[in-house]
Amino acid sequence: MTSTLDNLALSPEAQDLLFREARTANAFTADPVTDEELREVYELIKWGPTSMNNQPLRVVFVRSDEAKARLLPHMGEGNRAKTGTAPVVAILAADTDFHEHFAKTFPHFPGAKDAFADDTRRTEAAKLNALLQAGYFIVGVRAAGLAAGPMTGFDAEGVRQEFFAGTEQLPLVVVNIGHPDHSATFPRNPRLDFEEAVRVL
Ligand SMILES: Cc1cc2nc3c(=O)[nH]c(=O)nc-3n(C[C@H](O)[C@H](O)[C@H](O)COP(=O)(O)O)c2cc1C
Repeated sequence: MTSTLDNLALSPEAQDLLFREARTANAFTADPVTDEELREVYELIKWGPTSMNNQPLRVVFVRSDEAKARLLPHMGEGNRAKTGTAPVVAILAADTDFHEHFAKTFPHFPGAKDAFADDTRRTEAAKLNALLQAGYFIVGVRAAGLAAGPMTGFDAEGVRQEFFAGTEQLPLVVVNIGHPDHSATFPRNPRLDFEEAVRVL
């Protein structure tokens, strides 16, 4: 795959790293992922935009054997083995109490917190924006030279009780992270063409 998009500001190599050559990982090499890399991923992706700068994404990095043992029973059967062997696993959650941070994150609008007094409105905004941030997170993992294996095949209520009890945080996506072992990568499936997915009006 060598085609490049000439009108993008990113170099063709960066385009490949983030998208064209990046694959969803199902297995990982023994190469470690450092705490510094995890911090750098967050420090990069925190700049992705959210509505009213609400930033509902919360991340739990699962690395230790003890923490893995708490997570694995809640993973879908087909996802359990690869999650067990990933160097690090991120649980991405939406904080429906994001409005508590508006004094810091949206200081020019003192009414922001009260505008989200309604639970339903707040939960919808939390999920929408945390999922956007989950997309930034996957691309951020790739920008760090790592590979991501995102999964929604898990018992969300079980993971919530195990890792988020006593909080207003809802787990949405679990992401395996590491250096990819491409022997387990599936054949690439086609993407929809511009003409199939896009209208220019
Ligand atoms: C939100 C989300 C949920 C996913 N859930 C699972 C899952 O539970 N199990 C799994 O094996 N793959 C899962 N995948 C992986 C997708 O099937 C994969 O990313 C997609 O087919 C693209 O693969 P590629 O990046 O190698 O082209 C998920 C991906 C995303 C983005």
